[in-house]
Amino acid sequence: MDLMELVKLRAMKPEDLDAIVDIDKTILGTPRRDYWENLISAIEKRSGIVPIVAELEGKVVAFVIGEASGWEYGVPEEVGWIHTIGVDPDHQGKGMGAIVLREMLTNMKKVGVSVVYTMVNWKDGALLRFFDRMEFDRGDMINLQKRL
Ligand SMILES: CC(C)(COP(=O)(O)OP(=O)(O)OC[C@H]1O[C@@H](n2cnc3c(N)ncnc32)[C@H](O)[C@@H]1OP(=O)(O)O)[C@@H](O)C(=O)NCCC(=O)NCCS
Repeated sequence: MDLMELVKLRAMKPEDLDAIVDIDKTILGTPRRDYWENLISAIEKRSGIVPIVAELEGKVVAFVIGEASGWEYGVPEEVGWIHTIGVDPDHQGKGMGAIVLREMLTNMKKVGVSVVYTMVNWKDGALLRFFDRMEFDRGDMINLQKRL
């Protein structure tokens, strides 16, 4: 059977927190439970864009968190942001990242988002290639920084 037929896409629920913390920990090496708990509830309240998870045989294997902008920082309302995408390392390279991201983009489009931004470290070639495959291009916004 096609793997994609076994994948269930759904809105993230509070009970998914452990799975998200685990995926993040396997990628970054440090558990950040408070960080995820605060982020997920804040984003949902702020923008109404529900984070998405992909479940495979009852286990959460991928997630994506995004938001739609209000008028903060002079950015118009039709702008969406991909905040974080993560795939369980045992399930990377199987289309899970693509499927959760596409679902998020579809949801954003439904609520009127017409352009989606994300920030990727210039040195993170893997993530850059992933977003390139997902048809993201370099945008007009530029990142400015000042070291303190
Ligand atoms: C980057 C990431 C989200 C991609 O998810 P994934 O499920 O492994 O990717 P998919 O299998 O859906 O791949 C989709 C496309 O991107 C390409 N791609 C994905 N990862 C790639 C990599 N490391 N190098 C090159 N191409 C890659 C795939 O080849 C595929 O292209 P195709 O459509 O031509 O087949 C995932 O690997 C991940 O979580 N990485 C570590 C976490 C991370 O850095 N998160 C970002 C924090 S914001």
